[in-house]
Amino acid sequence: MNKQELIDTARKLVAGDKGLLAMDESNPTCNKRFAGLGIPQTEEARRAYRELILTTPGLGDCISGVILYDETIRQQKKDGTPFVTVTTDAGIIPGIKVDTGAKEMAGHPGEKITEGLDGLRDRLAEYSAMGLRFAKWRAVIAVGDGIPSRGCVEANAHALARYAALCQEAGMVPVVEPEVLMEGAHTLERCGEVTEEVLRTVFNQLHTQRVAPEGMLLKPNMVLPGLSCPKQEPADEVADATVRCLLRAVPAAVPGIAFLSGGQSAELASSRLNAMNARFKSRLPWDLAFSFARAIQQPALEIWKGNEANVTAAQLALHHRAFCNRAARRGEYNSTMERRRT
Ligand code: 13P
Repeated sequence: MNKQELIDTARKLVAGDKGLLAMDESNPTCNKRFAGLGIPQTEEARRAYRELILTTPGLGDCISGVILYDETIRQQKKDGTPFVTVTTDAGIIPGIKVDTGAKEMAGHPGEKITEGLDGLRDRLAEYSAMGLRFAKWRAVIAVGDGIPSRGCVEANAHALARYAALCQEAGMVPVVEPEVLMEGAHTLERCGEVTEEVLRTVFNQLHTQRVAPEGMLLKPNMVLPGLSCPKQEPADEVADATVRCLLRAVPAAVPGIAFLSGGQSAELASSRLNAMNARFKSRLPWDLAFSFARAIQQPALEIWKGNEANVTAAQLALHHRAFCNRAARRGEYNSTMERRRT
């Protein structure tokens, strides 16, 4: 492992005001999003959609890295150019999702454990040879009556740490994603307590498994009230709670934190990220960036609907979201940007 290369890649991914675009939906997840909009759930439709995203003009001005999926890295543009080449030609660092999904956890009703460690060393060697420079693994933690359990948090943290160690061994930057879910009626305070506990456990495990914090990125949830909680705090309070939690639990040696969007609306995700950077940017040890899937893609997907004639309009919508989130990294996003397209 060349540690300096890992550090350089991790820093590049969060440098300046760019962020990551997650487009690594597994086939079942991608098909589910397509089904909701009447788009055919075929390999060709998934290919065409990923071509739309990766050929968006100016994407590399706002996006430092994209997270791809195993099917996508073996696909090409209509003209035959492999998607990994399209990505690097756009000045974007290609990465890959490497977990194989969150499964029901034995003995823990309502909780999940993420799988994918078996054979991971060999898969990472292949991905690294294909030019992929970073890798993502998502653990999901549900909040509810009596959950999360210690067993679920520890098992997921342990798996995240073992995956991260294997990534660094293979020269790939781990993007460590422990997601505390928004589903539920829990309060913002409860989300903060659970997130802090999860992050402390994850960083303990990362240390135990000898993962270098300088050569990784954290992809956490924001600290938010549950989707069905009657009290929905404004962006400033979300920003305060999130930054307080991260300052308590994330080592200063980690170069960057790139949030997932988790089902927030695109505009809320931008305004909350903006509030964090506007209030705290100059005082934080790490960069606060984005690694959104739905909060960047959803408006574009709804315009595209699988129709070739809508590609340009969909690409404009995708670029607009990337542009808004770039502004949010500088603390310069505001809702008037939503009325004027970039
Ligand atoms: P969302 O931004 O849609 O939560 O997706 C991020 C992601 O990569 C989930 O693993």
